Amino acid sequence: MTFKNPIFCAIDTTDVTRAQMLAHALAGSVGGLKLGLEYFNACGHEGYRAVAESGAPIFLDLKLHDIPNTVAGGIRAVLPLKPAIVNVHASGGKAMMQAAAKAASEAGSERPLVIGVTVLTSLDQHDLAATGIASTPRDQVRRLAALAAESGLDGVVCGSHEIEVLRQDLGAGFKLIVPGIRPAGSAINDQKRVMTPQEALALGADILVIGRPITEANDPLAAARGISTSLAA
Ligand code: C5P
Repeated sequence: MTFKNPIFCAIDTTDVTRAQMLAHALAGSVGGLKLGLEYFNACGHEGYRAVAESGAPIFLDLKLHDIPNTVAGGIRAVLPLKPAIVNVHASGGKAMMQAAAKAASEAGSERPLVIGVTVLTSLDQHDLAATGIASTPRDQVRRLAALAAESGLDGVVCGSHEIEVLRQDLGAGFKLIVPGIRPAGSAINDQKRVMTPQEALALGADILVIGRPITEANDPLAAARGISTSLAA
C-alpha cells in the first residue's frame, strides 16, 4: 500500500466534532490520519466512521498486546472499519504477531498493514532494566524489529534516531513509521528527541506521524500544506 504523501496527522482528542472538523479540513493535504486509544476508547466505531468519512486513510493506533488468539480477535473486530494501518506490541512475541498478520490477511485486498511497536520512546535504559531487560533501548528496538519482520509484519514504529540502523538491518520494503517529527521552528511540546520531516525522510522513514504542529496551529490546513510543500521542494 502506498500513500499519496508521507504525513499522517495524529488526531488526539475525545471530541468527535473536533476530530471530524480536522479530518475534513486535512484529508486532501495529508497521506492519512492517526486515531489512537484516546479517541477510539472515547468515540468507538461510530467516532471512527465520522473521521473516515473524510476519505483519508486511517492508521488505527491501538497497540494491541495480549495472547495470540485475543489479538487476532481484536484485529478481526476492526477489519469492517477498513483501517489502512493497525499495530501491535512486538514484545507480545512471534506467535502473537503471526496471529495478528494472519487475522489482517482475512481482509484480502483491503488488508491493513500490520505494524509492530518496538520500545516505547518514553522508556530509557533504567526503565527497561526494571522490567528485566538488560539491553540498551537501541539493541532492544533492533531485536524486536527483526522479530517483527520474521513474524510477517509490514514494519515498525520507531524513533527518528533508529531509522538509519533499522533501514540497514531490515532492507527497503520494511515500513518505518516515525513520530516525534517537528518542522523547523515549531514547538517541541513534550517530545524529547525530534527531527524535521526532511531529515527523517532522508534517513529512510516511510510515514511521518505529526500531531500538534498541525492540529494546534491557528490554521491546521495551512500547517499541513506547508509541511507537504516543504517536502516536495
Ligand atoms: O503531537 P505530536 O506530533 O507529538 O503527536 C505524536 C503522536 O505520535 C501522538 O499520537 C503520540 O501518542 C504518538 N507517538 C509518539 N511517540 C511514540 C509513539 C507514538 O509521539 N514513540
